[in-house]
Parts: sequence; C-alpha cells; structure tokens
Amino acid sequence: MSAAHAISQTVNDDSKTMNTLNPVRIRLRAVLLALCLPPVAAAAEPAPADQHQTYCVPCHQSALPNAPDALYTRPQRLVRSYAQIAPEVRKWATAAGLRWSDAEVANMAAYLNAQYYRY
Ligand code: HEC
Repeated sequence: MSAAHAISQTVNDDSKTMNTLNPVRIRLRAVLLALCLPPVAAAAEPAPADQHQTYCVPCHQSALPNAPDALYTRPQRLVRSYAQIAPEVRKWATAAGLRWSDAEVANMAAYLNAQYYRY
C-alpha cells in the first residue's frame, strides 16, 4: 500500500464517521423532533384545564353560582378517593354529550385531583 493510498483510506474512514455521527445533523434531528412532537401530542389530547372550563364549569356554575369549584371540596362530595374520580368524570362527560377517550378521562381525573381533590 502506498503512502498516498493509506492517507486517502484514512480520509475516507473519517468521512464515513462524520456522516453517521455528524453533530450538526444530530442537533438538526433533535430540533426537528422538538418542533414536531408537541403539536401532535396537543392535538391528540386537549388540555384538561381548557376542557374543564369549556364543558364543565358552566354547568357547575349554575348549580353553585358563587363557587362552582366547591363542588369538588364540599363536605358531602361524591368522590372519596382517587379511583372514584375517573368514573365520575366519565359519567359527567357522557351526560354532557362528550365522547371522551379513556386518555381524556384519565387526564381530566389527574387534573381534578391536582387542582381540587388532592388524594
Ligand atoms: C349538566 C350539568 C353538568 C355538566 C355538563 C357537568 N357537571 Fe359535573 N356535576 C354536576 C352536578 C349537578 C354535580 C353534583 C351532583 C351531586 O351532588 O349529586 C356534579 C358533580 C361532579 C363531580 C363530583 C363532585 C364531587 O361531589 O366530588 C365531578 C367529578 C364532576 N361533576 C365532573 C364533571 C366534569 C369533568 C364535567 C365536564 C366534562 C362535568 N362534571 C360536567 C353537573 C354537571
């Protein structure tokens, strides 16, 4: 093997390595992923806070005009454990004519627990 051949071999090997592990490409892919993922996730599952405000609060407000959220914290409340939240959410979502996925119900249950129940 001539010296020139050996050098060109080395350059070729380096360029192969650069192709697969090019940090600019890796960063570009990360940026593209970051740009793509959140809107897709948001489209699949709307924010529970927004859904609550839109579909649930108006009716709770007509039941308890001064403090609709007290529905969740009143002493005689229906929900007594974390496990009871989702079935109650399902019941009311269905009553409101919404066809929520299990994920939407679970997200709402987690939201109501974080905001009000705290089980
Ligand atoms: C048609 C009116 C109406 C709509 C729409 C409605 N609710 Fe309610 N909700 C009520 C009333 C009235 C109660 C109290 C029932 C009782 O005490 O027997 C209640 C109770 C609840 C409870 C139980 C509170 C407790 O006592 O612990 C949960 C949880 C709940 N609603 C969630 C929701 C969610 C989530 C939505 C939106 C998807 C929603 N509700 C939509 C009227 C409504």
